[in-house]
Amino acid sequence: MGSVFVTRIVPGRAIAMLEDAGHLVDTWPGELPPEPATLLNRIRDADGVLALLTDRFDAPVLAGAPRLRVIANVAVGYDNVNLDDAASAGVWVTNTPGVLARTTADFAFALLLAAARNVVVAERHTRAGGWRTWSPTGFLGPEVHGATLGIVGFGEIGREMAKRARGFDMRVLVSTRTPRAEEERGLAVQHCPLETLLAESDFVSLHVPLTPETKGLMGAARLALMKPTAILVNTARGPIVDQEALVAALRAGRIGGAALDVTEPEPLPAHHPLFTLPNVIITPHIASASVATRSRMAEMAASNIIAVLRGETPPNAVMHPARPRGT
Ligand code: DGY
Repeated sequence: MGSVFVTRIVPGRAIAMLEDAGHLVDTWPGELPPEPATLLNRIRDADGVLALLTDRFDAPVLAGAPRLRVIANVAVGYDNVNLDDAASAGVWVTNTPGVLARTTADFAFALLLAAARNVVVAERHTRAGGWRTWSPTGFLGPEVHGATLGIVGFGEIGREMAKRARGFDMRVLVSTRTPRAEEERGLAVQHCPLETLLAESDFVSLHVPLTPETKGLMGAARLALMKPTAILVNTARGPIVDQEALVAALRAGRIGGAALDVTEPEPLPAHHPLFTLPNVIITPHIASASVATRSRMAEMAASNIIAVLRGETPPNAVMHPARPRGT
């Protein structure tokens, strides 16, 4: 039986599953992630780690954890792990596909609606005692129904976003590297180049993973293609947007607003200029945060660890090391 480090308290049955499988579980009790030195110390003798996107794994970390056989990320994204380093070290890396797509799309749509219809700014205004009368001109925003939504990246979350848009009678444009004609027809979306999507959309929602190709995807030039009224929604990863360029575009009125569940860095420092802009909503990376989804994500990660420590191929491997450790 193995020893497993769990880098934060997680909801659901994940820890019980690991214990029921006979593993010794060490759970980091802090609200904040373990510091890198602490992480290293706690995984020095571990066989598996149930990790979050706030924990970073690369060659030096893996060298300090010679028994480690699996990094089971409680996230669909895995940009916190250097996959090449994990593959060379023979360590499995797993993620949690499938379970969070609808929950994340629900939240992305909530951000879109909130930004369009001034939900956050109006709520703050009301709390501050600013509600004096019914105003025919107060908090006017664009229509959501019937507007054009541009979905950048058409994986499982992007597709869920398109389904939600149908309920709002939106025209949906999609930009993706791997068009799936059948699926796009079924969802009544229109595939187009990113530049066209940016120029024609009233809302642009990002659903690509963070990779060297997508880092800085939304830079100054692409932001400039957006309509001056358009709203950018990011529930993917902060570095996909060039944040300095975004601040400049928002300040200059080159786009209408932004709703960001992810930033660079996370958390965003309290003095960051984005916090000074009224047409920006910032939430703390919570798009998958429903009780059921976060529980399922942690349980999936536990299942992946249990499989590896049994000598099996984990169900949600993001790569297969040529020579897995311990086999
Ligand atoms: C992920 O899964 O990658 C999200 O960012 C957290 O749910």
